[in-house]
Amino acid sequence: MRVTIFGTGYVGLVTGTCLAEVGHDVVCVDIDAAKVDGLARGVVPIYEPGLAPMVKANHAAGRLHFTTDAARAVAHGDVVFIAVGTPPDDDGSADLQYVLAVARTIGQHLARPVVVVDKSTVPVGTADKVRTTIATTLAERGADIAFDVVSNPEFLKEGAAVEDCMRPDRIVIGADNPAAVEKLRRLYAPFNRNHDRIVAMDVRSAELTKYAANAMLATKISFMNEIANIAEKVGADIEMVRHGIGSDPRIGWHFIYPGAGYGGSCFPKDVQALAKTAQQHDYEARLLNAVEAVNDAQKGHLFELVQRHYDAGEDEGVRGRTFAVWGLAFKPDTDDMREASSRRLLQQLWDAGARVRAYDPEARHEAARVFGERPDLVLCDSAGAALEGADALIVVTEWKQFRSPDFAALHAALGDAVVFDGRNLYDPAEVEAAGLAYYGIGRGR
Ligand code: UGA
Repeated sequence: MRVTIFGTGYVGLVTGTCLAEVGHDVVCVDIDAAKVDGLARGVVPIYEPGLAPMVKANHAAGRLHFTTDAARAVAHGDVVFIAVGTPPDDDGSADLQYVLAVARTIGQHLARPVVVVDKSTVPVGTADKVRTTIATTLAERGADIAFDVVSNPEFLKEGAAVEDCMRPDRIVIGADNPAAVEKLRRLYAPFNRNHDRIVAMDVRSAELTKYAANAMLATKISFMNEIANIAEKVGADIEMVRHGIGSDPRIGWHFIYPGAGYGGSCFPKDVQALAKTAQQHDYEARLLNAVEAVNDAQKGHLFELVQRHYDAGEDEGVRGRTFAVWGLAFKPDTDDMREASSRRLLQQLWDAGARVRAYDPEARHEAARVFGERPDLVLCDSAGAALEGADALIVVTEWKQFRSPDFAALHAALGDAVVFDGRNLYDPAEVEAAGLAYYGIGRGR
């Protein structure tokens, strides 16, 4: 099938590439000419495992095209995806200006019937706005062309986006017209073999499904972080508690890892946007607000542990010390630092007069962009280099390569011989046996 995708961010680029991979003819369109030029030369602007070779191969095979030419793009697709950003407004609600700008563009250029697909995470009711915007723009042109607007939310995870896209666990299609569902069924048939993963529903339910999924996952994390904080107070170990509850299939092992708070472009934004939508409908989403509040506090928790350690000592606390920080991305296998817990931590360390030597396997360039040049930050090329001259180590992101360090070497390198483990990667007894002080999340030490 012929497919057009507006937006070459995470969702648009991954979706377009995976659709090309299974044989569809895909045009990706973006207003950012530099990005489009780069992509056409095989330069993939984000780090996502497996994506770059797939972009290059499909581009070379002539199934994946990149353009800034919206008219050509609209003319191409039988199915037209909207996969542009929905950043949070100042008040936490999703900003729809880019989505609606694409809807206008579609209305300006549409010449034959299409199915327009909302792929971006958009508040309930957005498909109606997209439909109205396209219809109004068509009417302004005096054109009368049939089109459907369908909600087809994306469930891919950064760091595993290609895999999630190629092997979806469900394909949610919200549509009011059965013919539109059939068209998407054909589009997704290569991903829907052996058993049916398509869950068809009305448009609003599909829109809410996306938010419900992310809000449920965020709730699990904030719940565990809250129990971890209680564990810390009462002298229990959250890792024992996690093992004690995860085997209950009603609870499950996934997304019950306590840590430095959830980050990324989705959970923080979506939890707030859903709470905002509820508020706009005169409902106070008390649970969602609490999930957000717990997460916000949790992002400051690592620094509280640092303070607790240093303020208990004889000397002047955190000021003047150097901290090695391992991991800056909001999670492993991505270079994305949006809403990353590391950002809060580093700011708190700097505000307290400390210096930072940081290492992240992929986010170094992003960190340089986010933080700029500053005298109290050194971005290092390796985990070992970050330790040079450092007093303490703080682990913020659980990259695999941080999982089994040589603790004797850590002891030798760190002036104050202390490790703050923001993702509970290490066995406290093993760390302490090497002569290091250990702090984890919710572990009573
Ligand atoms: C999330 C969802 O998992 C995807 O299903 C969804 O499609 C996506 O948002 C989206 O809306 O686009 P993502 O933000 O890429 O995906 O990352 P996750 O793997 O969900 O992690 C989010 C944050 O939660 C990370 O900061 C991670 O460190 C944290 N986390 C995750 C925990 O603190 N504990 C856990 O047990 C799991």
